[in-house]
Amino acid sequence: MRLLCGLLLLCLVVWAAEARKGGRARRVRSRDHTTKRFAADCKETLVNGEKYFDCQERHLTAVLLGWPEDIHHLLLARNRIQVLRDNTFSHFRNLKSLDLQQNEISRIDDGAFDGLSKLTTLLLQHNRLQVASEGMLIPMPQLKYLRLHDNPWRCDCQLDSLVRFIQVPSNRNIGNYARCAEPREFSGRQLKKLDAEMLCSPEQEKEAILDPENQQLPAPQKKSDATSLCHTYMHPVPRMDCRNRDLKTVPADIPLDIVKLDLSRNTIKQLRQKEFVNVKELKLLNLSGNSLESIDTAAFTGLLYLGELDLSNNSLRYFQYGVLEDLYFLKRLSLGDNPWICDYNIHYLIYWLKHHPDVSHTGLVCSEPEEFRGWPVENYVKTYNAECPKDKQLGNLPDTDLAGNTPLELTAEIDEEEGPRPYRGHKKFEIIRLN
Ligand SMILES: *[C@@H]1O[C@H](CO)[C@@H](O)[C@H](O)[C@H]1NC(C)=O
Ligand SMILES: *[C@@H]1O[C@H](CO)[C@@H](O)[C@H](O)[C@H]1NC(C)=O
Repeated sequence: MRLLCGLLLLCLVVWAAEARKGGRARRVRSRDHTTKRFAADCKETLVNGEKYFDCQERHLTAVLLGWPEDIHHLLLARNRIQVLRDNTFSHFRNLKSLDLQQNEISRIDDGAFDGLSKLTTLLLQHNRLQVASEGMLIPMPQLKYLRLHDNPWRCDCQLDSLVRFIQVPSNRNIGNYARCAEPREFSGRQLKKLDAEMLCSPEQEKEAILDPENQQLPAPQKKSDATSLCHTYMHPVPRMDCRNRDLKTVPADIPLDIVKLDLSRNTIKQLRQKEFVNVKELKLLNLSGNSLESIDTAAFTGLLYLGELDLSNNSLRYFQYGVLEDLYFLKRLSLGDNPWICDYNIHYLIYWLKHHPDVSHTGLVCSEPEEFRGWPVENYVKTYNAECPKDKQLGNLPDTDLAGNTPLELTAEIDEEEGPRPYRGHKKFEIIRLN
């Protein structure tokens, strides 16, 4: 009896708390207690004429009745769905994308996606799938993106049809980065690259095990593989979240279509050349909160569309000559919380910023030497240019870069009327003019 009273009291307290929140949730609740409450917690939004239904992280174990049927994008990431039964989504006829990542899905019936004739994107990564067949994909003739990585795939005869489908050359974005977990001899191999003939032929499997050359192949999953370490999201833009993953280097295999990449709060010390050369769509790169000390001059090669670069909270002291030359469309550059040293090496950065007035930057403050500590770096450079006697300039020339070019930073003050010049011209020692 006492227990019952306790429960009743608890219910009342919860009810009162919910009631205080008021609004739509309460009205829906009064009709039906448990199920509709979830429905009301989901959010419908309209973006560019397309309807998104956001039910992420709602502890859902199933798709609920009563959701709007005319939606284009259904976001169900980070729930607890385990099984997808036939016709689960068949009333969402306009659906273009379906995000089911980070659930606990271990079974998908062949008719689960029936009716999704317009679906182009299906996200099933970070689940518990061991088997699936090509049959489940047949109702979706428009499917272009299918993510299957970070599932414990069992690469045997049952997976044969799916593997062959993934390997069709035109299916470029289907099943990339998915890897076998079992059997042991295939563990770590990519479904995309597996020899499909082996799956259903025990004879050849045995040979593969005995063949010493093949034995080295099933490399354990590379530790720095981005898709297994980070979370990928497709909407509203392809985005990869690698925050706080203890990364010491930029991970390999970043999917080529990623637009926003968050690598903040790791322990990356240096950027090597061409780290991002394949991620050509990248618009935002966040490297804040790492231990960056050096950036190769070719580290940002290929990032033609990068608009925002966050390098704040690192250990940067200066930029090597040329580091920023590839970033044609940069708009924002965050540089705060770095121990910038105000000596001649910092001039390149100021020179570049001067010639890219569209770029807004923050946090460029001297930390050394002591006499300039706390100064905006621009002020230091101005002072330098104003005070520097001729002999100091000539006698104290900074390091030239590998091409043997003399830094042109000082000419920046002079050039202004003439308009920008190529940075790598051979204008040796033209820097003598003083104001
Ligand atoms: C980069 O990441 C840090 C820490 O996670 C965050 O505070 C900052 O706002 C991010 N910068 C951008 C430009 O998104
Ligand atoms: C700087 O980065 C460290 C390590 O990632 C983090 O713990 C700290 O909170 C960051 N500081 C700021 C001001 O963001």
